[in-house]
Amino acid sequence: MAKFHSWAAQGPKQKLTHFEFDPGPIGVEEVEIAVEHSGLCHSDLSVLNNEWGISHYPFIPGHEVIGKVVAVGEQAKGVKVGDHVGVGWTAASCMHCYLCLSGEQHLCRTAQPTIIGHAGGFADRVRAHWAWTIPLPAALDATTAGPLLCGGITVFNPFELYSISPTARVGILGIGGLGHMALKFANAWGCDVTAFTSSESKYDEAKSLGAHHVVSSRDVKSIKSIAGSLDLLIITANVPLEWGALIATLAPKGRMHVVGAIPAPIPVQAFDLIGSEREISASPTGSPVDIAKMLDFAARHNIAPQVERFPMSQVNEAFAHLDSGKARYRIILDADFK
Ligand SMILES: NC(=O)c1ccc[n+]([C@@H]2O[C@H](COP(=O)([O-])OP(=O)(O)OC[C@H]3O[C@@H](n4cnc5c(N)ncnc54)[C@H](OP(=O)(O)O)[C@@H]3O)[C@@H](O)[C@H]2O)c1
Ligand SMILES: [Zn+2]
Ligand SMILES: [Zn+2]
Repeated sequence: MAKFHSWAAQGPKQKLTHFEFDPGPIGVEEVEIAVEHSGLCHSDLSVLNNEWGISHYPFIPGHEVIGKVVAVGEQAKGVKVGDHVGVGWTAASCMHCYLCLSGEQHLCRTAQPTIIGHAGGFADRVRAHWAWTIPLPAALDATTAGPLLCGGITVFNPFELYSISPTARVGILGIGGLGHMALKFANAWGCDVTAFTSSESKYDEAKSLGAHHVVSSRDVKSIKSIAGSLDLLIITANVPLEWGALIATLAPKGRMHVVGAIPAPIPVQAFDLIGSEREISASPTGSPVDIAKMLDFAARHNIAPQVERFPMSQVNEAFAHLDSGKARYRIILDADFK
């Protein structure tokens, strides 16, 4: 059995080093992919540092994977050797629970995350269940599509989930990997788009990415200046924020939707919701069909992440760059195993 070559951390906050392992025989419903490119999501950094207490080591990051199918298990369906595919946060789900049978496989209680107790995409090969191996539309550029598989679907799904109208006013808070793709999606959806950023250097860029207006995400006065206006506010930052002022930006029936992994409770005054029928919600990524629809939408509207590239062998430099907050806007690692 040929070994897989990867970059792995042996414990929390450790540097990644070259790591070889025997993957064992391919599962009957599994697909094996030769990795070409793999995006670096902030969740990879949080799992590396065991911030959520769920990490397994050796930890092989990478859950925005693009590559070519090189082998399929005997009962794998829908993809064949040579296909260009992507794999995101989820590598497998049970396929027989109510959620899986209802097409909500991303909510499956036993879904297998690609990077938790499973070898991720910072490797020469990665495996996933056939249903989670998403064919890439030919019109998408495979060299930049990776980040759509996690970050992209996470910020696209709320538009589908809540049937957001093109007449809606939408705010995107945190213009990083997820947030910059959210600006592009919200603009292409037809919405009036407000970017909330804590980085003054992103004000002009946010407009070139699709924002019509830009507001400081840390300055209560600027946040209050748009009170009562937003139908949807997507929170992609992973830090505590000015929650009272942010909830007050929502229009009647408006929704604040959290996708960033904020490590502290979000305080909410019931009266800030009651009188205006406002809602607060959250969601993880999306189902395989949601991902396929999002890729189709991205191809049709020419939406691609704005990326910085590193060879995979510089994975530690790439993590440091993400951690410094300087990534513009998503890092992609290109596989360079010899
Ligand atoms: N729900 C899901 O399924 C899902 C999927 C993928 C990722 N995530 C989570 O989503 C979060 C964002 O991921 P990402 O890859 O987009 O991360 P990222 O590229 O690091 O972007 C995060 C952005 O948050 C903002 N931010 C950071 N520190 C801040 C502070 N002190 N005050 C205000 N804003 C701050 C920054 O935007 P500005 O510079 O514009 O302020 C930063 O660019 C992470 O927690 C990640 O784990 C969740
Ligand atoms: Zn992710
Ligand atoms: Zn299931």
